[in-house]
Amino acid sequence: MTDKKEHYKNVISELKNASDKDHHFKDGRILGSMCTEPIEIARKAHTLFLEANLGNPGLYPGTVGLEKELIAMVSKLLHGKNVSGLTVSGGTESNITALWIAKKVSGKSEVIYPKSAHFSFMKAADILGLKAKEVDLTENLQIDISEVENKLSSNTAAVVGIAGTTEFGVIDPIEELAELSGETFLHVDAAFGGFVIPFLKDLGYPMPSFDFEVANVDSITIDPHKMGLATIPSGLLLLRDAKNMEKIAVSSPYLTSPRQASLSGTRCSAGVASAYAAMKFLGMDGYKKIVGECMDTTKYIVGRIKEMGLEIAMEPIMNLVAIKMKSPEDVKKELEKLGWKPSLTRAPKCLRIVVMPHVTREIVDEFLPDLDKVCRELGEI
Ligand SMILES: Cc1ncc(COP(=O)(O)O)c(C=O)c1O
Repeated sequence: MTDKKEHYKNVISELKNASDKDHHFKDGRILGSMCTEPIEIARKAHTLFLEANLGNPGLYPGTVGLEKELIAMVSKLLHGKNVSGLTVSGGTESNITALWIAKKVSGKSEVIYPKSAHFSFMKAADILGLKAKEVDLTENLQIDISEVENKLSSNTAAVVGIAGTTEFGVIDPIEELAELSGETFLHVDAAFGGFVIPFLKDLGYPMPSFDFEVANVDSITIDPHKMGLATIPSGLLLLRDAKNMEKIAVSSPYLTSPRQASLSGTRCSAGVASAYAAMKFLGMDGYKKIVGECMDTTKYIVGRIKEMGLEIAMEPIMNLVAIKMKSPEDVKKELEKLGWKPSLTRAPKCLRIVVMPHVTREIVDEFLPDLDKVCRELGEI
């Protein structure tokens, strides 16, 4: 074997060793992630677009076409008509971009969001120099509308509602927020819920309106790399008023487009192709079936947990179970020794399980005896 071939083999072997140290969704042990194993066609699509760069769109008309189609499909899912969109790296970039646009549109300097908001809003406020006005939650962990009313001022650039909170999967009352915020820019973070709520609704679960169906909603974050079953990185920001996207555009003289309206310059296109492929291949019925199965597993877990004598923080609205505990940190530590990777919530303090497609009924049947054992040992039950 030549030196070059040997060297290649060695580098690949280093990569395999590194990957072997990682946790993988296919093993079913990751219980605290909002991502999952991308479906096969999404992985294939990803590899076909490794060199495409949506930041220089004139070179990649094919990829631009896929992006447009993807935006159209997701818009339709979220009741958007002629909305414009931007594919981004994920929920964080989408939320930062949304608040950037809101700041530009309004010329104002405060943002109102619930304490349940993802930490990307803290980053956004910091980067954009916006004063963050955090709103307390009600008993059912939704944004407290009366507090929003008190915090709204002539200086409010944006109000944020969450459709599927990271910790508990709670949906804020977006219609009430919309009514209150009036002309103020209203952003909905449906990074997780966007690919869950519409399908649960279709399955007959009572779900509130949260998307462009609600008149004053200006923008929505939705992540194909979460329940959209696409590869990472794949996020989307949708804007009701296409003109607003132009507010963040800068001149990009040496590229193939005269202006660029995005936080990133070079933009990953593999995630876009992957999301396109997942949506085209699965169709609405495909997602409905998968989301339905996740919700069935969620209900199964809840039933078994109650039988064990544990208490849940709330009846799951989505495919997420939060189990109340005195010391979830200790339970998590012990479960990790057994190979499980659940996560935690802050208030109330819970062990958090996100029931993604890789968390199958079989996996749950393996996990629950371990949970039972650990909880008994630690005096949680
Ligand atoms: C509601 C919500 N918004 C935003 C994000 C951030 O997404 P990302 O990690 O893709 O940047 C998350 C991540 O879990 C989330 O749950």
